[in-house]
Amino acid sequence: NKPVIAIDGPTASGKGTVAALVADKLGYHYLDSGAIYRVLAVAVAQQALDPDTPANLATIIPMAASLPVQFQGEQVLLNGLDVSDAIRTEQAGVMASRLAVVPEIRAGLLQRQRDFHQSPGLVADGRDMGSVVFPDAVLKVFLTASAQVRAERRVRQIENRGQQADFQAIFNDLMARDKRDSERAVAPLKPCDDALVLDCSSMPIDQVVATILNWARE
Ligand code: CDP
Repeated sequence: NKPVIAIDGPTASGKGTVAALVADKLGYHYLDSGAIYRVLAVAVAQQALDPDTPANLATIIPMAASLPVQFQGEQVLLNGLDVSDAIRTEQAGVMASRLAVVPEIRAGLLQRQRDFHQSPGLVADGRDMGSVVFPDAVLKVFLTASAQVRAERRVRQIENRGQQADFQAIFNDLMARDKRDSERAVAPLKPCDDALVLDCSSMPIDQVVATILNWARE
């Protein structure tokens, strides 16, 4: 029975941090599905393929199904090379979200995500974990926060990396990403019918984790 806990939500809602902590507490595996989209984005950028042309898409779609990605602890490898930092750039995020609108690409990445479903259980974070990838999840959480709070978190993340962050530019980018993620035809970002919605705008991380662990025990 290897239970799955699905944690979906918009960009910078804190779902990555929360999902990793919940997985750690339960001793479960952790899937950062966004990282898989980002690795594909890096692979596509390495080959300078623009996903807007049909010819390039015909090259990219088979890449999705056979993406040579490996997760080794904190490290993410593409073709055996460490891309852990490369996948976290803003550019990779934007390319990931452009690729994520293509149904054939999403289908190509499906099995790779399901491969993480192993004993004793899995915490999966993304946009469509509860709706598409793991519809049988025992708990589905939709973690959200106000755009203001999410932009502030993103600024802090960037500053912690020692880089400069412009709040207004980040806020605008976040709104654009929300719009693209929620208006796309495939796997649009929205809570699925059986998801519990958790707005964590004014909750510390510990409290978010505790709330989800309580739900998981019910
Ligand atoms: O949190 P953030 O949006 O910065 O990044 P992410 O979770 O790493 O995901 C990067 C992009 O991949 C998102 O903008 C989504 O468009 C896409 N994605 C998706 O469509 N489905 C998933 N399960 C995970 C990510």
